[in-house]
Amino acid sequence: MDTLTSPRLLDTIVTGRPTSDGAGVRLVRLLDGPLQQRLDPFLMLDAFGSDEAADYIAGFPDHPHRGFETVTYMIAGRMRHRDSAGHEGLLENGGVQWMTAGRGVIHSELPEQEEGRMEGFQLWLNLPGRDKLCPPWYRDFSDAQIPEWQASGVRVRVIAGQHQGVQGAVQREATQVLYLDVHLAPGASHAVAIPAAHNAFVHVYRGEAALGGGRLVAGQMGLLANQAGSDGVQLSNPGVQPARLLVLAGQPLGEPIVQYGPFVMNTPQQIHEAIADFRAGRLA
Ligand code: CO
Repeated sequence: MDTLTSPRLLDTIVTGRPTSDGAGVRLVRLLDGPLQQRLDPFLMLDAFGSDEAADYIAGFPDHPHRGFETVTYMIAGRMRHRDSAGHEGLLENGGVQWMTAGRGVIHSELPEQEEGRMEGFQLWLNLPGRDKLCPPWYRDFSDAQIPEWQASGVRVRVIAGQHQGVQGAVQREATQVLYLDVHLAPGASHAVAIPAAHNAFVHVYRGEAALGGGRLVAGQMGLLANQAGSDGVQLSNPGVQPARLLVLAGQPLGEPIVQYGPFVMNTPQQIHEAIADFRAGRLA
């Protein structure tokens, strides 16, 4: 296990807000408007998880996006994705779908199961102003295509960025995003290097985790303090059950964030253009 010389402290614990989106999918919104500046370049994090088909069966029918990226990580279940750029994919247990909406897509995300558990996360990652109107881009990664790093009691799935020399499935130059899914056996510890200038947070979704002088239980998100000279976060599992947590970090863009529903731009004028383009069918 690596050791850090100046680990980050736990700043704030967030419990999220139960809500629904799409055609009535129940979820917990852990990150949105009030935290967007604090966690720049991250715009949203939703956690969905239910054994009840009524909570997810309606899915997310056709809707537009412009100006950012959506990253869906499926822990359990099957979800079919289609978009107006001609992309289609089936997201299954352990898989990731990374979509750069750029100048715009219309897409749908619909369950391909009628019963059983559906669980996962959707993250929205901002694009710098110069890339907001880039051509749409899309990749599906199956469970087996997610690079991993392992040690005794520790498994790290590297969805984006790099960890201990393992290159993640996706790299992003502007946001330098790090997206890890860390599994810790009871009693295990692990250090994750994070540049001091990056905003960072952790979401525990199984068991509990001790970090930065505090403790999080499943369902909670912890914002990590931005300490000058810090070099990462030290994680451990103080519980008797296996722990799983998402670790996210990124370089702040430092640009104005103007969101109107599924469009995230830098100015109100750009939002008006997005709405006009959507209404005129120019996002498809
Ligand atoms: Co969407």
